[in-house]
Amino acid sequence: MPPPFGIYVHVPFCATRCGYCDFNTYTASELAGDASSPDGWLAAARREIALAARTVGDRTVDTVFVGGGTPSLLGADRLSAVLAAIRAEFDVAADCEVTTESNPESTSPEFFAGIRAGGYTRVSLGMQSAARHVLAVLDRTHTPGRAVEAALEARSAGFGNVNLDLIYATPGETDDDLRRSADAVLEAGVDHVSAYALIVEDGTALARRVRRGELPAPDDDVAATRYELLDARLADAGLHWYEVSNWSRPGAECRHNLGYWRDGDWWGVGPGAHSHLAGTRWWNVKHPARWAGLLAEGALPEAGREELTADEQHTERVMLRLRLAEGMALDLLDEGGRAAADRAVTEGLLATAAHAQGRAVLTDRGRLLADRVVTDLLVAEGGPIGAAHR
Ligand SMILES: C[S@@+](CC[C@H](N)C(=O)[O-])C[C@H]1O[C@@H](n2cnc3c(N)ncnc32)[C@H](O)[C@@H]1O
Ligand code: SF4
Repeated sequence: MPPPFGIYVHVPFCATRCGYCDFNTYTASELAGDASSPDGWLAAARREIALAARTVGDRTVDTVFVGGGTPSLLGADRLSAVLAAIRAEFDVAADCEVTTESNPESTSPEFFAGIRAGGYTRVSLGMQSAARHVLAVLDRTHTPGRAVEAALEARSAGFGNVNLDLIYATPGETDDDLRRSADAVLEAGVDHVSAYALIVEDGTALARRVRRGELPAPDDDVAATRYELLDARLADAGLHWYEVSNWSRPGAECRHNLGYWRDGDWWGVGPGAHSHLAGTRWWNVKHPARWAGLLAEGALPEAGREELTADEQHTERVMLRLRLAEGMALDLLDEGGRAAADRAVTEGLLATAAHAQGRAVLTDRGRLLADRVVTDLLVAEGGPIGAAHR
C-alpha cells in the first residue's frame, strides 16, 4: 500500500499583512502584473497541476488542502476551478478530504455555498482570538464575532468539518481572554481547533515592535498555562488533542495534515510550496511572478531539492510522530533512544501504560515539553540530532 497522497495548493494573496506572519504571501500593492493577479495565479496553478499529474503518474489523491495566504480572496469560482483542475488531471478518491483556509472577513454565506457546490468538504478559518484588543495587536481586520459567525455560516452551507485557528499568549492577552476565545469556538460548534502560541518570527513587524520595546515578548510560562487552560476547556467539550497543537471530535482529525505527520507523500502547487515524494523533498521559487513565468515556459518552478538520508528521515519521523496522541512505536528507536524513553517515563513525560505496550506517547506534561522529549530521544540515539543513527 503506498502512503496517502495529498495535494497542497498555496494561494499567495492577503488583503493586508498581519504583523506576526512570515508566510509567503503578498498584498496587492506588493504585486504588479498579470502573472501575479488571481487569474494569472489560477492559470499557472493549472499548469503545475498538469505537470504534477504527468510526474506522479497514477496516484489517487486522498486529500487536497488549499492554504495561504488567504484563499477566500480568490472567491468561490476560482477555488472551485482549482479543484476541477485537480479532478481533470488526477484520479481523486471518492472520500477525498478537500479543505480550504479562509479569513473570516472575506467569506459570506454565498461563498460557502459556492465552494460546497464546487466539492470542498472542509473549511479552516483564522479566528485567532475573541478579544478585540488581542486581534488589534495581531493586526487582524475582522471583528471579534465575525469568525464564529463565519463558522456558523459554513455549517449552514453543509460543511460538517470546520476548523477555527487560535493564537494564544499574545502580549496583552489574559487568561479570561483565552477562556472567552475557547467559549466562542465552542459556541461556533466546530469539530476541529488548531491553536499555536504566538511565535515572534524574525523580520516581521511584530519582531520589530518587540525589539523596540513597544510590546513585551510572549512568555513561555504564560504560554504553558494558557495551553493547559485551552486543552482542559476543549477536552471538557469533547474536542481531544490528536497532535500537540490540534484538537478534534473523534473522526474529525485533518487527514491532510496527518499525511504530513505520518510520512505521507504530497505535491505542493504554488509559489514557495514544498513537496515530498518517497524521501525526496523539493520546494518552488517563492515569488508568484517568477513561479508563473517558469510554468509558462514549460519549466519546473523548482528552487531546490534534497534527497533525505536514512538518518534525516528517521529524525523527521521521531519529531513528527511523537507530537501525535497515537505516539510512535518504541522499536523505531535504537537502544539508546529506548533508554531515554524509559527515563522520560520516570520523569512523567511519556505515558506509562502506552510504554508498557511498546509505544512512546506524551503525557499532559510531556506535551508542554514535547521539543525537549524529542531532543532527548534523538541525542540518546547517538546525537546530535540527525547524526549517525545506526
Ligand atoms: C498562515 S495562516 C493562513 C490562513 C489565513 N490567512 C489565516 O490567517 O487564518 C494559518 C495560521 O497560521 C497561524 N500563524 C501564522 N503565523 C503565526 C505565528 N507567528 N505564530 C503563531 N501562529 C501563527 C495562525 O493561527 C493562522 O491562522
Ligand atoms: S491573513 Fe493569514 S496568511 Fe495573511 S498575513 Fe495574516 S496570518 Fe499571514
